[in-house]
Amino acid sequence: MLDYQFPENFIWGVATAAYQIEGAVEEDGRQPSVWDTFCATPGRILNGDTGAIACDHYHRYEADIKLMASLGIKHYRFSIAWSRIIPDGRGTVNEAGIDFYKRLVDCLQGHDITPHATLFHWDSPQALEDLYGSWQSREIAKDYADYVTAVVSRLGDRITHWMTINEIACFTHMGYGFGVDPPHAPGKRVSSKKEVWQTSHHALLAHGLGCQAIRAASPVKCSVALVDNIAVTVPINESPIHIAAAKSAFHTCGQNGGIIFPALTGAYSPAMLELLGQDAPDIHSGDLETIHQPLDAIGLNIYTGTYVRAANTQLGYEFLNFPQGYPRMHMPWLHILPESIYWGIRHISETLGRNDLPAFITENGCAAQDEVNVNGEVIDTDRIMYLRQYIRAAHRAVAEGYPLKGYFLWSFMDNFEWAWGYDRRFGITYVDYSTQKRIPKASFEWYDECIRNNRVV
Ligand code: BGC
Repeated sequence: MLDYQFPENFIWGVATAAYQIEGAVEEDGRQPSVWDTFCATPGRILNGDTGAIACDHYHRYEADIKLMASLGIKHYRFSIAWSRIIPDGRGTVNEAGIDFYKRLVDCLQGHDITPHATLFHWDSPQALEDLYGSWQSREIAKDYADYVTAVVSRLGDRITHWMTINEIACFTHMGYGFGVDPPHAPGKRVSSKKEVWQTSHHALLAHGLGCQAIRAASPVKCSVALVDNIAVTVPINESPIHIAAAKSAFHTCGQNGGIIFPALTGAYSPAMLELLGQDAPDIHSGDLETIHQPLDAIGLNIYTGTYVRAANTQLGYEFLNFPQGYPRMHMPWLHILPESIYWGIRHISETLGRNDLPAFITENGCAAQDEVNVNGEVIDTDRIMYLRQYIRAAHRAVAEGYPLKGYFLWSFMDNFEWAWGYDRRFGITYVDYSTQKRIPKASFEWYDECIRNNRVV
């Protein structure tokens, strides 16, 4: 019988991001990010919610970390807010902003928890949006690298696991998206698809320069990774023709061919470029070398996927829509597809040929319609069901020899779910926003069991 046991050194963690939990948006010198501005724009965020207070983690981090430690968590992925460190986006470093992260990291280490820091999780300084349209300009790559140098030279003695950028497609394609209502800050529509692709190209450049900046500034040997939400193609069944179709389709699914391909192989996928035609971004000579930096790991945020089958089309495959009644969790896009974890990792190894690169699931989890019962508990058996299936799929990847080294659950606690505000709960800890009380959910206890036993329970 399969006991879903993981290798001894497997990393179990939880993840969060600065704007979604910190609050304290006007404290200690922080200046607005595009998300503050977006939240202040009527109609952008459900119920008019904002990140002004969020989980008030800025003030409550000690208690939160204590709770994390009680879960047996040894690894924590969080993000650093650019607008706390360099409030104007470029220029003067705000040491008070650095100090917060020093306190946070010291507290983590005091509880024997290893910090994994994401240097950018969507909260671009508003000043740079005003100055040059942030990701619309190549200039941002240089400003980002300077910000990275400021952080790593000051925190590199405490943090050795760095992630440059979280989910390039989200804050570029969904922030400047052409022809769609952008659900993401800055919520600006640029005038062509090419300009949208230019924003993600600039983010890739920022990633590349960021990698170089980390390595130059870190006082010790450290690990550098990119975090991407690849669009995972899953074969309708695992017969050779559908597997081959899923691999071909991986190139053109979502933004894969123009984001994960250049980052991990040094070239945009030819299939993607052909599909884009005139909409492809301008690529200067030397850009691809800058983008294709040696990495120590790849972080994958995987929640769902797209079914694919072989077909008599020009490309030889077709993407399949989800049927009406397909089960999903509490987000319109969150179709339950546990195999997406397995296939995501396998695509990195086989479709991209990067089986040399240690992979981490840097986010996986789900929103559920949690309720506090009369006993004050949150019994989220639906979330446990979801997580159990996905972590089993992660186990399959490990068992088959793919280099999956760890798993970070999204999220440690309920938080500001971007355009959905506080309406959607992804945490294994319930947050009562009126009192800021934390209530560990049933899934918290379940995950605790998994961690302690190093297997899926
Ligand atoms: C993001 C998180 C977000 C989660 C759930 C990921 O794409 O990195 O910030 O909360 O998905 O939507």
